[in-house]
Amino acid sequence: MTDLRETAAATVPAPEVLASFEGATGFMPVDEGLALYAAAVDAAERTGLPFLEIGTYCGRSAILLADAARRTGTVALTVDHHRGSEEQQPGWEYHDPTLVDPEVGLMDTLPTFRRTLHAAGLEDHVIALVGRSPQVAAVWGGQLALVFIDGGHTDEHATGDYEGWVPHLATDGVLVIHDVFPDPADGGQAPYRVHQRALAEGFEEVSVTGSLRVLRRIGG
Ligand SMILES: C[S@@+](CC[C@H](N)C(=O)[O-])C[C@H]1O[C@@H](n2cnc3c(N)ncnc32)[C@H](O)[C@@H]1O
Repeated sequence: MTDLRETAAATVPAPEVLASFEGATGFMPVDEGLALYAAAVDAAERTGLPFLEIGTYCGRSAILLADAARRTGTVALTVDHHRGSEEQQPGWEYHDPTLVDPEVGLMDTLPTFRRTLHAAGLEDHVIALVGRSPQVAAVWGGQLALVFIDGGHTDEHATGDYEGWVPHLATDGVLVIHDVFPDPADGGQAPYRVHQRALAEGFEEVSVTGSLRVLRRIGG
């Protein structure tokens, strides 16, 4: 196992970027954000290619990817239909009623995302792709330094994200998966099943931080 912990210790965002991350609406803890950031900087420095995040939500993790892109001279792409995942719908555990568009009556996290990235001064380093992950993946033609899977947490969605985007990952790129819970008591199993599939299909784990797993292709 290659150890990225040394890199994680050395490669941290500026305090104002971290403050923007901590102030943004979202679910990612700081230690996982720092691991994502370090993995992104490392991947861009080795490949010179862009990042792709599935699951923008309000831009919390996108702040770190955008800053890593600014630092390394690349760009962060982030895809979301902005209507929320299953568990973010009314009546579910992670629903936030302030994120419902009153005119349409549906979740709309895009305005919050835009305000968040603007306030962080990072708009120029991120490209928002508004749509369904498999549809965007099907028309995407470029190679990627990093694919970060943090979209829908059903098997259908997590598998669609993996199958749609991993073919675009550069040989020496990095695959990051969020919400990997080996114990079902800790959370849903779809990201864990995708993580297990990646390990069976030529990836090795380079770091574990909370539920965030960083993987690279063996020999990549
Ligand atoms: C857990 S949130 C992402 C959290 C975000 N990365 C952060 O750190 O704050 C998951 C997001 O994935 C989006 N999503 C779920 N399924 C999707 C799909 N098939 N295509 C695009 N976006 C999807 C939802 O709209 C939701 O905003």
